[in-house]
Amino acid sequence: MTYKNVELTKKDGIAWITINRPQALNALNSQTLSELTSIVTDLEKDTKSKVAVLKGAGDKAFIAGADIKEMHNMNMLQAREFAQHGHALINTIRSSRIPYIAMIHGFALGGGCELMMACDITIGSKSAKLGQPEINLGISPGFGGTQNLPRLVGRAKAKELLLTGDIISAEEAYRIGLLCQLVDDEQLEETTEKLAKKIAGKSSVQTNFIKALVNKGADIDMSTASDMEIAYFSSGFSTDDQKEGMAAFLEKRKPEFKGQ
Ligand code: CAA
Repeated sequence: MTYKNVELTKKDGIAWITINRPQALNALNSQTLSELTSIVTDLEKDTKSKVAVLKGAGDKAFIAGADIKEMHNMNMLQAREFAQHGHALINTIRSSRIPYIAMIHGFALGGGCELMMACDITIGSKSAKLGQPEINLGISPGFGGTQNLPRLVGRAKAKELLLTGDIISAEEAYRIGLLCQLVDDEQLEETTEKLAKKIAGKSSVQTNFIKALVNKGADIDMSTASDMEIAYFSSGFSTDDQKEGMAAFLEKRKPEFKGQ
């Protein structure tokens, strides 16, 4: 597949995925959703990619939402298909073996905020402005906002944001836990790359396990979640990475993980 609206570059185990429609503030239309889905699906098979970063092109936005021009004349069935498309994408990211970092500058609104919330770690710069303004368009969120926002910031704060459609500052997003890190604009790319490299140097078996444990555990009861943790923990002892990590500690050297 050739890509028109998304760019992919790979370097040092990091896959940089750039949504590239700056003329529309990187709004997510069907074509962009298809390209993103194809890229994240293909990345699963590329064992050299250890971490992925999602970012937006241009100065103004990560993503200003789903494409309003495309949605404007949709009927109910088309809207359903569009929302299913968005959900398939965020589910692929959530269930991916790869940790995803969302690098946020400027607007991350509606579907953009929802795509961000599907990622594992969010880093924002001071220019970031986040929100779920769908209510102002006479619709409710369609790419997971009503489900993921309350899980991240609590139900009351989520309802305040969803019911008002207010756009919040980067500082407020950081305060309520929507952004994990907040940095100056000039430091955004460098900080993101540093973090991505740090995670890329870990055991990819374990980054996969930890992501799956946290994500799956959030939706099941504590007793089943505890059993799941014990199963993953013990299966880690069948890997070379566990032998290497512990040997390196005992030999007082840096471990070299192979992801197996
Ligand atoms: N869809 C389509 N085009 C968009 C867009 C979107 N979500 N957001 C911005 N654009 C386009 C604008 O139409 C404009 O294009 P033209 O030059 O052709 O008119 C261009 O991007 C630049 O935007 P503005 O001139 O509006 O820029 P601004 O700086 O004055 O305002 C903004 C920026 C406040 C983000 C404003 O563009 C805006 O409010 N955008 C819409 C935000 C929104 O409502 N997002 C939610 C969408 S619904 C959704 O996401 C549903 C879901 O959950 C799946």
